[in-house]
Amino acid sequence: MSERPKKKILIVDDEDRNLRLLSLILSNYGYDFVAARNGAEAVETACKLLPDLVLLDIMMPGMDGYEACRRLKADGLTAHIPVVMVTALEDRESKLKGLEAGANDFLSKPVDSSELMVRVRNLLKVKEFEDYLAHHNTILAEQVQEKTKELRESYIDTIYRLTLAAEYKDEDTASHIRRISLYTRFLAKTMGFTDEQADIMLYASPMHDVGKIGIPDSVLLKPGGLTSEEWEIMKTHPHIGGRILERSNSPIIKSANIFALNHHERWDGSGYPAGLKGEAIPIEGRILNIVDQYDALRSRRPYKPAFDHKKTFDIITKGDGRTMPSHFAPDILQAFQDTQAELERIFEEHKD
Ligand code: C2E
Ligand code: SIN
Ligand code: SIN
Ligand code: FE
Repeated sequence: MSERPKKKILIVDDEDRNLRLLSLILSNYGYDFVAARNGAEAVETACKLLPDLVLLDIMMPGMDGYEACRRLKADGLTAHIPVVMVTALEDRESKLKGLEAGANDFLSKPVDSSELMVRVRNLLKVKEFEDYLAHHNTILAEQVQEKTKELRESYIDTIYRLTLAAEYKDEDTASHIRRISLYTRFLAKTMGFTDEQADIMLYASPMHDVGKIGIPDSVLLKPGGLTSEEWEIMKTHPHIGGRILERSNSPIIKSANIFALNHHERWDGSGYPAGLKGEAIPIEGRILNIVDQYDALRSRRPYKPAFDHKKTFDIITKGDGRTMPSHFAPDILQAFQDTQAELERIFEEHKD
């Protein structure tokens, strides 16, 4: 609360004599003033100039002081401006009416200049403090918002880097992560999830294979097919991922845990690790199962070359023995067929 511009006071009175007297007192004390001659003019001027205080006569032709006060207090723009009612009426009734209209203080006519100044000064002080608080709160809210955004960004960055670390060995990392995110968000929206839920899945889905971090390189990076023993080891990766991501309060990590545990379950019950069937498989698992296979088939792996869209589409929709249409939830397989062009577009746009 340092050096500030002169306070501006709106004087409202229908009589010239009163206007002159009040403005004289106010300017002697160093305040600026504007005048209005009735309630309607007062409300209009207050909205336009946002004075620091209003000195309001009650009995005026047209809109009276009560109504003007009510309107000022009802408008969010002017509600915080203190109103002092200046009245010849001493009776309890009219004061009560003034209070009901929202007046902050009263002055009786004839106006005593010292009393006027004490009341004006007090109310201005209160208003100044309120303005300061409101301003301070706005700044605080902005700072909190900025910090929250920073925190969210660094959180997502951390997730992203941990996912990269987990994939470092067997994937063409960054663009693979981006693709899994984008296909999953796209299919989730197609299946009716809200933007907010689909965005959580955008961040959560690429963590589904973090459990591969616990698989020995001799298995993970093996150029050819796996022995049954190696396959048993490979099949532990959803469980390992689930453990890494369990018991978090973060909606993104919670979602990632569901993706990790369920992305190799199959609709017909032939998947792993739990052999869940049909609706028992969380929808995240049903979505990611198809998305994961689409991307794995399109990509080169230590054990396989990359396939084109057509071949990949045929393996998923017609089956090749290893993959069969009965593995997929029928509604999601249908959505995959209907929107295949978009999945292809995402792959082409985000290949390395
Ligand atoms: P991944 O390479 O990310 O593959 C993910 C899923 O895509 C596979 O899950 C499978 O459903 C599908 N997929 C990948 N390549 C093919 C393919 O050539 N044909 C068909 N029909 N589907 C394919 P799955 O089978 O549960 O495998 C999980 C992970 O196990 C794979 O992840 C990969 O890391 C590893 N893996 C699977 N098979 C082999 C293999 O023959 N050799 C090695 N070294 N690793 C394998
Ligand atoms: C992430 O994996 O968390 C980031 C996904 C993205 O690229 O937006
Ligand atoms: C991961 O996100 O950790 C791996 C994703 C994948 O290999 O499909
Ligand atoms: Fe996997």
